[in-house]
Amino acid sequence: MADPAPTLRVDVLTLFPALFDGFVGESILKRAIAKGLVDVRLWDLRDWAEGKHRQVDDRPFGGGPGMVLMAPPVVAAVEALRVMVEAPGRLIAMTPSGRPLTQDWVRTLAREPRLVLLCGRYEGFDERIFEILGPELLSIGDYVLSGGEVAAMVVIDAVMRLIPGVLGDAESAEDESFGREGGLEHPHYTRPREFRDRTVPAILLNGDHAAIDHWRRARARDRTAERRGDLLGRSPADQTPTTPEPSPRDSEHPPTPRPAGQARSGGAERTD
Ligand code: 6GU
Repeated sequence: MADPAPTLRVDVLTLFPALFDGFVGESILKRAIAKGLVDVRLWDLRDWAEGKHRQVDDRPFGGGPGMVLMAPPVVAAVEALRVMVEAPGRLIAMTPSGRPLTQDWVRTLAREPRLVLLCGRYEGFDERIFEILGPELLSIGDYVLSGGEVAAMVVIDAVMRLIPGVLGDAESAEDESFGREGGLEHPHYTRPREFRDRTVPAILLNGDHAAIDHWRRARARDRTAERRGDLLGRSPADQTPTTPEPSPRDSEHPPTPRPAGQARSGGAERTD
């Protein structure tokens, strides 16, 4: 019998498919693909270009710098993909003039069976690509990249890690920044207990899980207020008062790097 369909299929349309080689061939995404949970297909837009030179871009009408991605090859490519599979998929164009990606949007995309990501290069897309195909427009932030490929990798990475079964228990996506609480994540500590005179907060070592949970929520809130005041007041959790902080503030604890290969949130307390 044929393999079952993956939970998420992503088709990427790009002029530079090779940029994705390392990305799909390593780490969590590689494992998700091997498990059959995610399928990433790369398509070279040039394969739909016409003429001897297989041209995909041209100078802008009206003048100005740079090159514009031409409508015919892009429209042909998307239309070819749409007839290839039953689910046409949600079409998303990568562009700095799109709607900024958020974790909420990522959660929505993770419920889709298929995404089609369209990567532009050069100065941008011929506007008729948007008029004809009606894609959603997605930006990963207020800065300009030289192409949509890195942004597409950002989308794939953020979405695939929410697909059930992609992350192991130890890598759970439950308890993290922009999670249910809406703000930033609490600080983390692992061995050793003491490093360059800095000790792990004692409350994390005493095994009182209710107290630890309370401490972590309070620290997450402090950290969000300190670093990302713009995120406060967005979640129901922010309406709950916090008790005052007895231990040092986040800013006195520089981030503790996680050792490679270790889980971020083991259940049991560590011993030194
Ligand atoms: Cl999606 N594309 C490009 N080219 N630049 C960006 C972006 C996307 N998001 C932010 N900057």
